[in-house]
Amino acid sequence: MIAIGCDHAAVNLKNAVKKHLEEKHVSFEDFGTDGTSCDYPDIAEKVCSAVCSGSAERGILLCGTGIGMSIAANKMKGIRAAVCNDGFSAEYTRKHNNANVLCMGERVIGTGLALELVDIFLETEFEGGRHQRRVDKITALENKSLGGI
Ligand code: RB5
Repeated sequence: MIAIGCDHAAVNLKNAVKKHLEEKHVSFEDFGTDGTSCDYPDIAEKVCSAVCSGSAERGILLCGTGIGMSIAANKMKGIRAAVCNDGFSAEYTRKHNNANVLCMGERVIGTGLALELVDIFLETEFEGGRHQRRVDKITALENKSLGGI
């Protein structure tokens, strides 16, 4: 199952992604918003909780830029969220970073490209090997207390 969510700035893109997933027979759960104005960290929390719990295999978070969603998502333990605006990034954030949440901005990229990035993100496997060691170091960073600003 893929967990998907957006804020009010990306409802059109989310609807397009949902239709695309339906056509590909990929199961998903929509964590909002239905169009109501909302705060993107609240949606990021819901989608990422589904990923962290294992109920969702991966997540897709959409906002105006994709950036706010990614910042919020990456605060959650176990989440590796990547903003992607091109196919190379979508491919390599899976191969090298084992990213589990794709973030995109409706105000940044067109729908056609976004759907291509969804396919790449969902179909590309993590390469492991030396990249596993690096991802493990990201996890270790999560577990260190770095203090506040
Ligand atoms: C909402 O206006 C906008 O700030 C939000 O969608 C997102 O782009 C934040 O990063």
